[in-house]
Amino acid sequence: MSSSGLSVCAVLAITLLLTHSAAVVEQKYQDKKCDLYSGRWVFDKSYPLYASEKCPLILQQFNCMRNGRPDLRYQKYRWQPNNCNLPRWDWREIGNRLRGKRIMFVGDSLSMNQWQSLGCIIHAAYPRAPNYTPTTTGPLSTIIFPQLNITLMYMRNAFIVDLVAQNGVKVLKLNAVGASAKQWLKTDFLIFNTWHWWLYNGRKKPWDLIQDGKLMRKDMDRLVAYEKALRTWTRWIDQNVDTKKVKIFFQGVSPDHLLLYDSASDWGMPEQRRCGGEREPLKQAAVEEGGTNRADIILKGVLKSIKKPVYLLDIARLSQYRADGHPSIYGNPRKIGMDCTHWCLPGVPDAWNQLLFATLLGL
Ligand SMILES: *[C@@H]1O[C@H](CO)[C@@H](O)[C@H](O)[C@H]1NC(C)=O
Repeated sequence: MSSSGLSVCAVLAITLLLTHSAAVVEQKYQDKKCDLYSGRWVFDKSYPLYASEKCPLILQQFNCMRNGRPDLRYQKYRWQPNNCNLPRWDWREIGNRLRGKRIMFVGDSLSMNQWQSLGCIIHAAYPRAPNYTPTTTGPLSTIIFPQLNITLMYMRNAFIVDLVAQNGVKVLKLNAVGASAKQWLKTDFLIFNTWHWWLYNGRKKPWDLIQDGKLMRKDMDRLVAYEKALRTWTRWIDQNVDTKKVKIFFQGVSPDHLLLYDSASDWGMPEQRRCGGEREPLKQAAVEEGGTNRADIILKGVLKSIKKPVYLLDIARLSQYRADGHPSIYGNPRKIGMDCTHWCLPGVPDAWNQLLFATLLGL
């Protein structure tokens, strides 16, 4: 490349850095030639990557087809980046990369969603392994794939920071990560996520008090609390993780479609529009109009300050298109309730895992 070509690249890179905060994160984490996260969903007859009836791992709540969902187009969309293709789905290569590895998802049920998707993807390639029942000890669920000696784990931990009982009071500690962190370190790949539980009130709110430094609070701005917790987590990563041994990923903010245009400020407003009856991805204009989720902005801001390499799976925007991908009333066979938060399997989390592989293969 000529020197003028190089300087154009440099100017472009600097402009990107200055004008687009997401690009800063991506520049650090992704192949510079291609932003995997700007793209579109394309209909692909060859999808899904596995058949839901053949995968023994899918929680009923995610098994929309078994719960009677009649339309199946939602299983047949593939994420297509604008300027490149995701790596070919080559199991020999992926199997070689993951052989002998311990992979752990840490977070809320959106982590479980992605964990089960990954389990089904591996199962589709290695269907004859003897035992696919996860063993569960406390918050940790484990699946072992013997042929590849892969240990695939999900640790339920909705806040990442500690939630502990003290004198019968449940305290959410914004400054402490540690209760289960020792187990995190005994892995090769860690994929974190936290967001949805930060907004709960009433019966679903799992804490009584929030500890913020020396202060004990009954409540506080949840976005501020979320940011403090993330900063605690980044400090823990910087101080404790040898990223030559353990690769760290963060599953970005998974959008819900309780309101068609989700944002934290709308939380608790009357539900104007839900995901029920959606059968196609949203149009780009509808996604643009929704703007950027504030939690996603906070997460990207925090990740910029981390010193160790952390790879953001920047799924917020691409998932925002997929109002059709949620269980809606098909989260159970009796069709009770309306789940516009989790994702049907097969479905959107399969694309998240493809992006995880794309990132892994580039490391
Ligand atoms: C399986 O992987 C673990 C690490 O996760 C390693 O300690 C062990 O030696 C491996 N076993 C075999 C049979 O390769």
